[in-house]
Amino acid sequence: MLLAANNNSDKYSTEEFVEKFKLSKFVLNLLKFIEKDNEIIKDLIIRRYQQLPISENEEEEVLEYFINNSVFSAATVANPATSVVTEFLYAEPKAPLPIDQYFFMSEGGKAIKSRLLRVEENIHKIADSYLKKGNVLIGNLGGGPGRDIIDVFSKYYADNKNISAINIDKDKSAIKRGKRMAITAGVIDKIDFLESNFMKYRPEKKFDIIILVGVLCSLPEETCIFVLKRMKHLLKKEGCIMASNVSPKMLEVDPFTCFIMEKITNWKLIFKEEETLKNIFIKAGFNWQRSFTDDYSFHHVGIGIKKSFFL
Ligand SMILES: C[S@@+](CC[C@H](N)C(=O)[O-])C[C@H]1O[C@@H](n2cnc3c(N)ncnc32)[C@H](O)[C@@H]1O
Repeated sequence: MLLAANNNSDKYSTEEFVEKFKLSKFVLNLLKFIEKDNEIIKDLIIRRYQQLPISENEEEEVLEYFINNSVFSAATVANPATSVVTEFLYAEPKAPLPIDQYFFMSEGGKAIKSRLLRVEENIHKIADSYLKKGNVLIGNLGGGPGRDIIDVFSKYYADNKNISAINIDKDKSAIKRGKRMAITAGVIDKIDFLESNFMKYRPEKKFDIIILVGVLCSLPEETCIFVLKRMKHLLKKEGCIMASNVSPKMLEVDPFTCFIMEKITNWKLIFKEEETLKNIFIKAGFNWQRSFTDDYSFHHVGIGIKKSFFL
């Protein structure tokens, strides 16, 4: 049912909007909270979701509202793909701001946390199989503070001298944070933290395994191929890469979170099917092994082995 027209456009109540677009109860809670606080902003969000025109000034007002009322949004606007955002979702503070509560409860937010767990399981599995052949060096590239590798090392390899890692990120504060996390977890002796652009990294020792999680998502296919080709040169013969990308399932199942990310906080993701990720691996010169997903299938994580004829 439509309410009275406003500015020559149809206007839904919050409940009608959520029902009409089959959105979750978390979207309803979010919009009800915003409505209570600032009804104009709520109306602008609903208009924007329906792709109805709003002015540049109105767009700015919505952005300002999100920046002022959500740590997650402010961090995303400052640097879209920053590990501050992923770390925020992994850690889940006890008393988040109401808008941030939405990101934790949304399927998109939960999928990020689930991706971390599945990535850790698979790092463990792959590392175990490479350890059978000898010492293992892992490169966690674009690793942020390296939470995944820190967790895996502290859980499974704390006393194993045959495995180590280099965690590389261009973000100085992520590297600083990672060092502190590794000290707390008791694995600082096993991980080198390097502030560097991994595309320019010239390793002394090549890696057995490269982890590239949360890095390709905003890159077009051709750029992903370019990045993976570069990774090949950092890997030993028969070395393995694990690389993730957000899947179109997220857009289908959680369109409102995707909308906030892209249209409000300006974080543009390039959703890729598993087949596209597989083609990226193959075109970059990897033998595709398999893939896994988070529990929501919002991310595909591919695993490939460097083709030996590229050596
Ligand atoms: C979304 S975060 C993901 C962090 C971590 N891999 C995870 O799964 O939680 C992406 C990270 O990639 C880093 N990054 C992107 N391109 C990079 C590059 N060329 N060299 C080094 N770091 C890069 C960013 O600084 C950021 O910390």
